[in-house]
Amino acid sequence: MRLSYLLAGLLVAGLAAPALAESLPLPEQIIRTLDQLSGGPHRGERANHAKGLIAGGIFTPSAEAAAISRAPHFRRSVGVTIRFSTGTGLPAIADAGPGSRPYGLAIRFALPGRSYTDFVGISHNGFPVATPEDFAGLLDAVARSRGSKASPPPLEQFLATRPAAQAFLKAPKPVPKSFATQAFYGVNAFEFINQQGASVFGRYRIVPVAGEQALTDEEAAAVGPNYLMEELAGRVAVRPVKYKVLLQIAGKDDILDDPTVVWPEDRRLVELGLLVVTRVVPEARYIEAKLAYNPLALPDGIQPSRDPVLLFRPAAYAASAARRQ
Ligand code: HEM
Repeated sequence: MRLSYLLAGLLVAGLAAPALAESLPLPEQIIRTLDQLSGGPHRGERANHAKGLIAGGIFTPSAEAAAISRAPHFRRSVGVTIRFSTGTGLPAIADAGPGSRPYGLAIRFALPGRSYTDFVGISHNGFPVATPEDFAGLLDAVARSRGSKASPPPLEQFLATRPAAQAFLKAPKPVPKSFATQAFYGVNAFEFINQQGASVFGRYRIVPVAGEQALTDEEAAAVGPNYLMEELAGRVAVRPVKYKVLLQIAGKDDILDDPTVVWPEDRRLVELGLLVVTRVVPEARYIEAKLAYNPLALPDGIQPSRDPVLLFRPAAYAASAARRQ
């Protein structure tokens, strides 16, 4: 079986896996395995998406946004704190190297009264597993496959019964020319409720106004380890970087609670607004450590779906954030 870049990265990243602490609660168990895979824990870093870049900007809602949800940022412009990231718990991973993809984009929208709401998405449309237990199982299988003489190795055994995980790992994940030419996907569905009480389910998409542009394999092999982070800082210093914030609206029979199931491309895309990145914050270690995104920090007008992956994420993120603060 051909391993994807993501998987190759996980396999080469760390040390041989010690026995797993299966008695730990699931969030801590997952963090422990993420640490094993990255040769961590790495002091002060995130257990996943450890390498990042902080930026700031503004989100301006479209005229259509208020008809979708009564959330405050769909009625007026708000400031945003953004974190671009690479995959895995490796703080010094090469931006185009094995394991760096999917990339991450996290956006904190500042709301009235010091409150906020967060988007936390990845550069791939879809997720490998449908439950937190399977996420733990996937990471565990990767860890146990290191140096394993079993035939088939644990990972192959896991993937044999998880076609979605296999498809996710095998899917091409091109290296973008820039974070400014990369699209990001919310993957989990939310319910959006407007002033009249009417609701729709949807998944966010953040699409670059510059268009999606990827490097060739030769170009990707030639870039430096921090090229994405450095390129964005240079680009934003010259002019703002823009993304359309879209919502893919679920069809009548679309599955709402399984992030492995990608909805068909003919579903309606509503433009919720424009995200403009106006500055990259240099040396943002303190801000980065303090920032703890939470995909369930939701204002009135947005509710979670019943997706078990979505509902589990805050516990894992909080456990990872707690140990760096
Ligand atoms: C069971 C499922 C998942 C688990 C256990 C998990 C776990 C984690 C953990 C532990 C962190 C570090 C958080 C921190 O220290 O602040 C993290 C960060 C992140 N995750 Fe997940 N995750 C899951 C699903 C997802 C999904 C579905 C997406 C996107 C669609 C996603 C995107 C991200 C991103 C972008 C970050 C970096 C956030 C930042 O910049 O601070 N994760 N994840």
